[in-house]
Amino acid sequence: MEQEAAIAVTPIGVMHCGIKTPGEAPMNYSESDATGTLEIFPSYLEAMSGLQAGQTVMALFWLHEARRDLLKVYPRGDRSRGLRGVFTTRSPMRPNPIAVSELTVTKVEGNLIEVTGVDVIDGTPVVDLKSAVGKPGAGQRDR
Ligand SMILES: C[S@@+](CC[C@H](N)C(=O)[O-])C[C@H]1O[C@@H](n2cnc3c(N)ncnc32)[C@H](O)[C@@H]1O
Repeated sequence: MEQEAAIAVTPIGVMHCGIKTPGEAPMNYSESDATGTLEIFPSYLEAMSGLQAGQTVMALFWLHEARRDLLKVYPRGDRSRGLRGVFTTRSPMRPNPIAVSELTVTKVEGNLIEVTGVDVIDGTPVVDLKSAVGKPGAGQRDR
C-alpha cells in the first residue's frame, strides 16, 4: 500500500552564502571549503543551546530548486556511468529534495552560525540541525 499523504516540514532557517546557482556549488560537502552562514529563525534560538565553534553539525536542507520528477540520474552527471536510481545516489534530484551536509562550525553569534563545507546555494531552506555522529572519544557521541 502506498502512503501518499503529504508531510508538512517547516524551515528552521536559511543558508546565506556566495554560491548563487546549483552549477557553481561543490558536488558534496566532503569536497568543499566554501563558507556560509546559517541563519536560524529566532523562534528556534533555544534549540541552538550548546552549539560551539569547532563542532561538526549535520545540516538537513530542502533543495528548493531541485527537480523532483526524476527517479533515475547519471551519477555526478557522468553519462559513462549509466543511469542509476536516485535512491542509490546523492543527487539533488529526488522526490523529496532533502540534502545532508556535515558542516564545521567556525563561529556562533546569536542566531547566526558560520560554517565551512557548504555545498548548497544561497537561500536554501534549512529543515534541521543535528549533532554529527562522532567517533568514540571525539566528544560528540550520544548528543
Ligand atoms: C549532490 S547535492 C549533495 C548534497 C548533500 N551533501 C547530500 O549528500 O545530500 C549538492 C548539489 O546540489 C545542488 N544544489 C545545491 N543547493 C541546491 C538547491 N537549493 N536547489 C537545487 N539544487 C541545489 C548543487 O548542484 C550541488 O552541487
